[in-house]
Amino acid sequence: MSDKIKVTIDNITIEVDPGTSILEAARMIGGDVTPPAMCYYSKLEGSGGKCRTCLVEVSKGSEKDPRPMPKLVASCRTGVMDGMEVKNITSPRVIEARKGVVEMLLINHPLDCPVCDQAGECHLQDLSYEHGTEGTRYEFDRRTFEKEDIGEYISLHMTRCILCYRCVYVADQLTENREHGILERGDHAEISTLLGKNLNNEFIGNVIDVCPVGALTDKTFRFKNRVWFTKPVDAHRDCNNPKCCGKARLWMRGEEVYRVTARKDKWGEVEGWICNDCRFHKKSASDWVVEGPTKVDRHSVISQGHYVNTLQQPKIIDKVIGKEPKLLLDIHDVSDVNKPNVHLSEIPGPAHSDDFEKKDDKKLNN
Ligand code: SF4
Ligand code: FES
Repeated sequence: MSDKIKVTIDNITIEVDPGTSILEAARMIGGDVTPPAMCYYSKLEGSGGKCRTCLVEVSKGSEKDPRPMPKLVASCRTGVMDGMEVKNITSPRVIEARKGVVEMLLINHPLDCPVCDQAGECHLQDLSYEHGTEGTRYEFDRRTFEKEDIGEYISLHMTRCILCYRCVYVADQLTENREHGILERGDHAEISTLLGKNLNNEFIGNVIDVCPVGALTDKTFRFKNRVWFTKPVDAHRDCNNPKCCGKARLWMRGEEVYRVTARKDKWGEVEGWICNDCRFHKKSASDWVVEGPTKVDRHSVISQGHYVNTLQQPKIIDKVIGKEPKLLLDIHDVSDVNKPNVHLSEIPGPAHSDDFEKKDDKKLNN
């Protein structure tokens, strides 16, 4: 006799192992049936139950007790029962509640996507587009925090944090000694390194990849490129660190490697953890064996720069005007930004406007 149990989500029935959560069962079905998840992370023990974006309606508890559950439940933390019936996108209550959750998450989240390095791959940005409302009813000042430097590689923007705890679990479960956590409670709660300690252990770079928003970003990539202008390729190398999987994603523009991240699956979760050395110090294509272009979801803004099997419009301007067009303006003649001789990927920290200043200008300013 099969020991699988049956669960129906949005009218699709699937058989799963006992102990599976509703969210995991929905992921097995895939597509729109799967609730969004901002805090749950299948590779991090104890994650989930913090953000409420994965709320679903249980319209039938189980075969034995068919009563519906009175409240919406967090699908990442609720196990399936035999005969359970769940509604996600087929429930107007869920759609309405999710709008409310997004509005709550955005109460304190700054709308600084135009300058945020996470823009284009931010789960909260996607969630707001899919489930958010057009405006906010919030009239008060947003939370602000003292700026804190948490080390040479990672930048913390506490105002963007949604307190999902993923980074805390990464530090707890992946690194030898956790030095950061959530301090205070309620509206004052913040991610911080206790006593200003820097996070400098060898796997801490993974907090950047698990952060669903732009609260933790890579300082070595900061302000150097928009992610949709770069082209991701999958690559690997023989890393000496036994805990590092050595399989990464290189975000390239031309020959330059602007950023190295872990590879992520279709749920936005890291496939294998990588060490700081691979992430922050192997920024040359020759450090890696490039496997080929990353398959990017076509709904992602990153796919706008995709380059496999694309058809380019033929250039006909010279045929129309009968000669090679003369450039009216070479931007480099008039602007100090984007000088072709400045290699952004080689600047060790974040890029600033003074990286483009002419040497003489610098002298004058000093
Ligand atoms: S910093 Fe990012 S990963 Fe950490 S709790 Fe905040 S949102 Fe989550
Ligand atoms: S993903 Fe379930 S509560 Fe956050």
